[in-house]
Amino acid sequence: MTLAASTWPAGPPRHPLVGNLPEFARDVLGFLSECAGRYGDVVPLKLGAWPVLLVNRADLAEQVLAVRYRSFHKHSFFFRHVAAIFGNGLLTSEGDFWLRQRRLAQPAFHRDRVAGYAEAMVDLAERHCEPWQEGERRDAHRDMMALTLHVVVRTLFGGDVDERVAGEVGRAFDAIVEEIAHRFRRPFRIPDAVPTPGNLRYNRGVRSLDRLVFALIAERRRSGEERSDLLSLLLRARDEDGTRMTDRQLRDEVVTLFLAGHETTALTLSWSFYLLSRHPEKLLALERELADVLAGRPPSIADLPQLRYTEAIVHESLRLFPPAYVLGREAIEAGEIDGFSVPAGTTVFVAPWLLHRDPRYFDAPGEFRPERWLDGLQGRLPRGAYLPFGGGPRLCIGQSFALMEASLLLASVARRFRLSLDPDLTVKPFPSITLRPWGGVPVTVTRVPARTAV
Ligand code: HEM
Repeated sequence: MTLAASTWPAGPPRHPLVGNLPEFARDVLGFLSECAGRYGDVVPLKLGAWPVLLVNRADLAEQVLAVRYRSFHKHSFFFRHVAAIFGNGLLTSEGDFWLRQRRLAQPAFHRDRVAGYAEAMVDLAERHCEPWQEGERRDAHRDMMALTLHVVVRTLFGGDVDERVAGEVGRAFDAIVEEIAHRFRRPFRIPDAVPTPGNLRYNRGVRSLDRLVFALIAERRRSGEERSDLLSLLLRARDEDGTRMTDRQLRDEVVTLFLAGHETTALTLSWSFYLLSRHPEKLLALERELADVLAGRPPSIADLPQLRYTEAIVHESLRLFPPAYVLGREAIEAGEIDGFSVPAGTTVFVAPWLLHRDPRYFDAPGEFRPERWLDGLQGRLPRGAYLPFGGGPRLCIGQSFALMEASLLLASVARRFRLSLDPDLTVKPFPSITLRPWGGVPVTVTRVPARTAV
């Protein structure tokens, strides 16, 4: 089977430059779900000018991401839209260059090294919510963005950001994310240099991130300080021929780690607080665990093996609202997936959003049930069914960093504060580069009663 117009799922065939884009643009998640529901495991689409194959079965996802990863590259149209931000950093580079950079960054993510970040994570979380007042209204998402930004800058780059800079980064990020969301929905590409209002905001956002990152780099160069953090590793790195990384490459790596390393974890926490606020009995179970294990003190890495329900909440939140809701690859050679021919240049979508809600892999998939993770479910799932961190060689380098951080931050906040959403408010996921809570997560803060356990 080829990517023929007659197999397009929604409505009659359209002009080839439009294809399924209007349906996709109207409701990305709804459209993908409908495609999978109506047309099954492999669905050929045409998004604007781009032929896309939506692949929606665990073993096929595993094929694309892991088994046949050499045939499927990252340079899909998805990534071309974000080139100005990530450049040739770890998330977007390919081949030998990517492998070299990955090996270079890897030591900063070794288990022992990551364990060493725990204290800073908890310290920052405890201090972040210290000033919160009983009855105060806050946006939990904004809070989590600021907190995880502090964590990544402190642990990986050995610096601190003041509130003004955190605010600036937040605004830059909002502008970038908004523009990217528009780009995914357009049937054509407008180069960054064209001064549309969206591009102007986007370019301003990128410049603002660059300022922060170049300041971090310059500060370290000026101080000449030799540290063991990621920034020093990158600064010290040399090619086989002895040349150092250019400033541009350094910038690409730092911006990539900086962005990939904070928004995703913030989202995991924002969605966790959202889900907990909608399920008071699960919130109580969490508070009981925290009261039992921590007995009123801040969490530490030594507590993590006992904080099993806390960890289960993180996994369940990543299942229902995977920050990376679609993973894109591009076929670099002609091939075949499950009987569908895949011409070179086809973009392949693997959608954790769909796989994580598939009843073939998860009972009652639409329900928030952290308990499902308590009896070894992760070990029983087929490969490719649960992909919050992707799969294959391009698996998230920050996976253990993120899981530890999410559990520690959740424990640190929830041991002291309840974050309650208005009962009649529903927060919708907004798919851009990641899956953001549209309009944030507005909550009222109250203190957890002295002892929740019975
Ligand atoms: C809950 C938090 C996180 C989630 C859900 C997440 C998700 C992902 C996913 C799905 C990928 C693979 C993308 C693809 O295959 O196209 C990825 C890659 C990556 N992530 Fe994460 N991530 C998280 C946290 C982090 C953290 C904390 C860092 C660093 C501090 C990080 C750095 C990276 C980098 C550098 C890559 C590219 C790796 C490569 O291609 O070699 N991520 N992440």
